[in-house]
Formats: sequence, structure tokens, C-alpha cells
Amino acid sequence: MTVISLQHVTKDYGHGRGIFDVSFNVKKGTVYGFLGPNGAGKTTAIRHIMGFSKPQQGIVTVNGLDSWIHASTIQETLGYLPGEVALPEHLTGEQFIQMMMDLRKVKDDAHCKKLIDFFELDAKGKIKRMSLGMKRKLAVVTAFMHDPDILVLDEPTSGLDPIMQQRFIDFIKDEKKRGKTILLSSHIFTEVDATCDEISIIKEGHIISSFNKQELLNMTEKVFHLTVENSANFMQLVQQIEANSICHILFKSEQTNELQISCYPSDLPKLIKLLANFPLCSFSEVPFSLEKHFMEFYDRRVEGDLPWQ
Ligand SMILES: Nc1ncnc2c1ncn2[C@@H]1O[C@H](COP(=O)(O)OP(=O)(O)OP(=O)(O)O)[C@@H](O)[C@H]1O
Ligand SMILES: [Mg+2]
Repeated sequence: MTVISLQHVTKDYGHGRGIFDVSFNVKKGTVYGFLGPNGAGKTTAIRHIMGFSKPQQGIVTVNGLDSWIHASTIQETLGYLPGEVALPEHLTGEQFIQMMMDLRKVKDDAHCKKLIDFFELDAKGKIKRMSLGMKRKLAVVTAFMHDPDILVLDEPTSGLDPIMQQRFIDFIKDEKKRGKTILLSSHIFTEVDATCDEISIIKEGHIISSFNKQELLNMTEKVFHLTVENSANFMQLVQQIEANSICHILFKSEQTNELQISCYPSDLPKLIKLLANFPLCSFSEVPFSLEKHFMEFYDRRVEGDLPWQ
């Protein structure tokens, strides 16, 4: 079931800026990653989902409701963490949390307390004296205190240290397990890689690629690194690999008897059968990297342009 839907959405700010004919669907219970460099159009798309901005063309719906027409319902029910958060600096964190609980009419503070503990938020002091990271945590707690079913997060980990970034990734994974639907924008590959089921890449306002991560993993060749016990066996193995089409050699060293090979998942049983005839000292999989995949993708399509990050 589709929860968030953008169909042919255009917002043209002039001079090639904005978003153009953007379409994607976020299905219930999935994490959708919106990946792109600075100025690509991530925040613009998210602002349309939240009903802050009216599309010039196309339609945005959340649970079947037009985001622009039903903006107040959507803004009340969704959990939204903006990229830049403006907090009332004169209040203490606790006062702000209470204010947001009253505004959101949250009766039960159990989920809010859980979030405070999870993110180790110290909300006692004045907001103006809080560090950037602490302010960010406060924004997270107030954005999700009402335990929304849909979470929209615009670059959620910016301003957080590596430990808190990991905590955030754990939070997103936990929320997904609880059946939540999540859309997150980012320009950090690792964060998207660790959390998202579906991913779209946006550049200069256009979606240049969309894919399902599991499908991509199944379609992508796996890479293995192995060392053969002696050079006679090493030469024999190389000969056998070259004589059939089970896998390809990416790298070989006759000095160290090392090989790096790539193989499609469907050919794995044949590869294992072949390798079982050889004495190996080591065998390991080189982990798939979404970042590497997209650097290649990006390089191929945008000649002469520097990939981001
Ligand atoms: N209200 C506006 N008026 C005019 N131009 C705008 C407006 N909002 C955004 N833009 C432009 O539209 C483009 C997309 O901006 P957007 O904020 O959506 O990018 P982004 O992908 O979120 O970038 P970042 O990673 O830096 O947050 C940029 O060129 C930006 O300058
Ligand atoms: Mg942005």
C-alpha cells in the first residue's frame, strides 16, 4: 500500500533550480531514501510532502490525501524533522518539550520519555546554551513524541557525532520494525545504505535513478578474495576459471597466490563446487558498497563532473 506518493511534481524556481517531473511512491512499512548532493531538490520535495509548498504541476498525496489541500491534517499527524530547526532559545529544553506536548495534545508521555532516554537528551538547561548536537536531539524528541506512523526526516544526522549518527540509524531500524513508514533525505551513502529499502537519487531537480536495494544486491556480482595454498594449485585454479564462465578474475598475484573474483549470486553453487577442489588458505567476501556502486553510476552519466562526498 502506498503511503506517500509524488506524481510528476514540478516546482520551478527559475535558472534550473527546483524539482522537475519528480515521481516516486513510499510503501507502507518501508524506509525510502532520497539521496542527492547539496541543492539537488531534496528539501523542496519534502516540503511538498508536508504541504508547505504547492506544486506547479503534479500531485502529492499522503495516505491518499492531497498534501496541499489537507496540509494541516498532514502536518499534525506526520512526524517531521526539518533539515534546519529553529528552536525558541529563551526556553529550557524541558519547557519546550512540555509546550510541544500541549500543542500536539500528547496525553501519554511514555514515548517521549523513551526517546529522551534513547537519544540521551539532557533537556534541563536553556536551549540557547545547548550544543548543536543537543539541539538536534531536542528537535528529534519533539518531532516524534506523538509516535507518528509516518516519519519524514530531512538530513537527520547532520550535526550529530558518529556515535549519535549510529544511534539514529538504530532508531530508524527500530521504527521500521514497529511498522512505521519512513522517508529520509541524505547526502551520506552509508546512512542510506544502512537503513533504506528503496532509494532514489536526485540531481539538479531530476530523479536520475530509483531502485530497490535487495533487488540491486541480487543483481550485482559478488566479489570474493581468496588465497591458494601453493603456486601449482593457484595456476591450475586460474586456468579452470579462465576456461569456464562461472566467475571473472578481477585481480591475481602469482607472488602471493591471491585472487579476487566476481560472480553473480545465481552462479555461487557452481563456484563453491569448483573451489572445493582446491586447498585455500583464505576466502572472504568483499562487502558490496552502495557508495562504490553509485560513484560508478554517477561517473558514467555525468562525464567530467565530480561526484559528491
Ligand atoms: N523558496 C525558494 N526560492 C528559490 N529557490 C529555491 C527555493 N527553495 C529552494 N530553492 C533552490 O532550489 C534548489 C533545490 O534546493 P533544496 O533546498 O531542495 O536542495 P537540497 O537537496 O535540500 O540541498 P541541501 O542538501 O543543501 O539541503 C536549490 O538550487 C535552491 O537554491
Ligand atoms: Mg535540504
